[in-house]
Amino acid sequence: MEFQLTEEHLAVQQAARDFAQNELLPGVIERDEHQKFPTEQIKMMGELGFLGMMVDPKYGGGGMDTVSYVLAMEEISKVDASASVVMSVNNSLVCWGLEKYGSEEQKMKYLPRLTSGEIIGAFCLSEPEAGSDATMQRTTAVDMGDHYVINGTKNWITNGSTASVYLVIAQTNPELRHKGINALIVEKGTPGFEIGPKENKLGIRGSDTHSLMFTDVKVPKENRIGEDGFGFKFAMSTLNGGRIGIASQALGIASGAYELALKYAKERKAFGVPISQHQAIQFKLADMATNIDAARLLCLQAAADKDAHRDYSKSGAMAKLFASKVAMETTVEAVQIHGGYGFVKEYHVERLMRDAKITQIYEGTSEIQKIVISREILK
Ligand code: CAA
Repeated sequence: MEFQLTEEHLAVQQAARDFAQNELLPGVIERDEHQKFPTEQIKMMGELGFLGMMVDPKYGGGGMDTVSYVLAMEEISKVDASASVVMSVNNSLVCWGLEKYGSEEQKMKYLPRLTSGEIIGAFCLSEPEAGSDATMQRTTAVDMGDHYVINGTKNWITNGSTASVYLVIAQTNPELRHKGINALIVEKGTPGFEIGPKENKLGIRGSDTHSLMFTDVKVPKENRIGEDGFGFKFAMSTLNGGRIGIASQALGIASGAYELALKYAKERKAFGVPISQHQAIQFKLADMATNIDAARLLCLQAAADKDAHRDYSKSGAMAKLFASKVAMETTVEAVQIHGGYGFVKEYHVERLMRDAKITQIYEGTSEIQKIVISREILK
């Protein structure tokens, strides 16, 4: 299969690259250090169309394909993985989930504001006791006729305090297990809905991750996404595409670290020559470049599957599994090539190394990706 990027793809890639270099790079070290959310930059991303790339233009989206999204995610993630996780959650989980399964009223109400960056969204599945085992939802949404009452706690929620719209997965009928779960839209400010303290994280420190507490939160029935009991399928199907976003994030973290290491290796001299002339460094660069190309092909394959309406649960999980491993390995090697400089913040690679780790954990750990892949293989 040949991946021939179109003029439009190349234009999107260039726009994302320019934005990342001009607007995200300045200040990225300080935002990481002080755990500062990139508020202004996310607003600009909305104006440039990066927050609702694949949404139909009639809801304010860019109407682009998933390949364009992968290319943009890679460029943004090369520089600022905190900004790119906001982008990924908003595009793949919130906007896609609403556009695919929401009612016309829900789409008209939320998508134009989510795609423009006027507001951002959050996807609330994980719980203190339901991370990988997503069927074990303890948060309840009791059916009260014309509304639901939500009680429970969600953990590790990206955009936890900055979102305005939350897609909350909760159990309505425990006897039905995953078939008794619903997905509900909860707006910030709904009585009983509280945001816990911000997590102090190893990486993606510019993004805000919080616990969320729900105490007798009343949500009208028209806020349910899909039929009664569709919530687990909603979450799984949304995560299939989310994994393409996180795979592209991992790819970007890896290629960002590789580009920095390559540049440094050509400049830094040791034993009288640039270190790029030493075979020990050349072998590292060769491995990095090979792995990154392979990860990019898997990301593009998953995106092409989604764009062609083929099943992409396996290819998306493969892309995420492999790209996140490559991100971790490449960033560690990039620090090694930089030597002592790699261990200090000014050279960026230590941040990329810290950011890489989360790509092996969120939207399903690497072990979960293997479960998803093997179920498809063994079907
Ligand atoms: N796509 C579509 N449907 C799926 C699916 C998938 N990938 N995986 C399962 N399903 C469906 C099954 O077909 C089944 O439907 P039927 O009953 O109609 O047959 C139903 O869901 C239940 O399937 P299983 O019994 O096989 O489910 P399971 O309990 O074995 O779990 C799992 C499967 C893959 C392990 C799942 O629990 C999972 O993906 N867990 C990880 C959750 C996760 O990714 N959490 C991350 C939180 S979000 C996040 O991180 C966002 C962020 O902040 C960046």
